[in-house]
Amino acid sequence: MSEAKKLYIKTYGCQMNVYDSERMAEALGPNGYVTVDSPDEADMILLNTCHIREKAAEKVYSELGRLRGLKTRRPDLKIGVAGCVAQAEGAEIMLRQPMVDLVVGPQSYHRLPELEAKAGGGQKALDTDFPEEDKFAELAARPKAKRGPTAFLTVQEGCDKFCAFCVVPYTRGAEVSRPVDRVLTEARDLVSRGVREITLLGQNVNAYHGEGPDGRDWGLARLVYALAEIDGLARIRFTTSHPNDMDNALIAALGDCDKLMPYLHLPVQAGSDRILKRMNRSHTRDSYFRVVERIREARPDIALSGDFIVGFPEETDADFAETMDLVRRVNYAACFSFKYSSRPGTPAAERGGQVDPEVASARLIELQALLNAQQLAFMKAMVGREVGVLFEKPGRHPGQMVGKSDYLHAVHVTAEGLAPGTLARVRIIDAGANSLAGVLV
Ligand code: 5AD
Ligand code: SF4
Repeated sequence: MSEAKKLYIKTYGCQMNVYDSERMAEALGPNGYVTVDSPDEADMILLNTCHIREKAAEKVYSELGRLRGLKTRRPDLKIGVAGCVAQAEGAEIMLRQPMVDLVVGPQSYHRLPELEAKAGGGQKALDTDFPEEDKFAELAARPKAKRGPTAFLTVQEGCDKFCAFCVVPYTRGAEVSRPVDRVLTEARDLVSRGVREITLLGQNVNAYHGEGPDGRDWGLARLVYALAEIDGLARIRFTTSHPNDMDNALIAALGDCDKLMPYLHLPVQAGSDRILKRMNRSHTRDSYFRVVERIREARPDIALSGDFIVGFPEETDADFAETMDLVRRVNYAACFSFKYSSRPGTPAAERGGQVDPEVASARLIELQALLNAQQLAFMKAMVGREVGVLFEKPGRHPGQMVGKSDYLHAVHVTAEGLAPGTLARVRIIDAGANSLAGVLV
């Protein structure tokens, strides 16, 4: 047998990219590749990229610049760019960085084996199609080897909502849901490999409407209940949800499905109706408040998180004040906030009214101070409480294990002989800025 070739994948961006990287590594297995943790000895380097903000995309070009030395020393090294930058920029990447051998978009990576075989030795391979076929159905079966206790599982991909700032409808394409039986099969396989927690992924995961075994479309709630039947699967999460797609069945599931964790990422983006309208968000600040209220009625202890954009075109101080007010009223457990970044090809990029970058920076600082304070308060409120923790890996100190609470906080305990995959009750004794400390109950 010839020696295995080494594949190094660097993943940028969202959780779906993490999932895609795993599937790409598996797809290249039959071509003779095993994954390694460093680019230095790799035979192939694949950057799985993100295009969501300008900074994310620029990072890819700087990384390619850094890899030039390696490629000069070892011309046989294959360099590929996958993901959303690959989709958005296509052949342009090879013009800007001629050492790139392969470019593959998020909807065509099932063709990686052929692309990899073709690329190299001066030959280029490019595929940014949105093919008819279902890439997941075309990919080879997933391996059976043991793996860690948590996994992502893409159930829905793409977006039809066309928020004015967002590249996703262009990079990931139209909204598609995977059939229920495929999702269940993949979940059962993951559980048989040691997985105890699955996070269902979709850019609009709660718009899931996959074909069920009965030939009808199933919503996300129904899928969650079916997954909850799997013995050995202890926890289910899903992300990212759109406020308009939080239907009654899903809200009810948050209240009554024991395996569904009390954490919900529900981006609102802005607190002013004027800006929400310009963002084409199709919900208002009031409809967001109402949905949050219904969720909290069903699951009073839910940890809510969100995404925010400041400095969207035409955002005034008064609009921003409404965002601050919304945050105060909702009270988040965690949040992600960004300065608006104009993305080529999106409707907002064509408009006037761009906000002065310094004003946007000042707003971001103010918003983040409030969000950080809320996050810290939520964590401090955990002290003295008992929570479930799924342990994942050893911590930095001897005898320490780290896991995630039901509310998705990192929790560390000192306990000898606790195996990864153990789900235990933990009493929280301390809260830091980013993690909690606890003792086994
Ligand atoms: N500029 C800044 N932030 C953006 N996001 C999406 N597009 C942009 C953009 N052009 C943010 C949104 C989204 C998260 C994934 O990234 O808040 O929910
Ligand atoms: Fe980035 Fe969006 Fe692509 Fe994920 S789907 S990698 S967040 S651009």
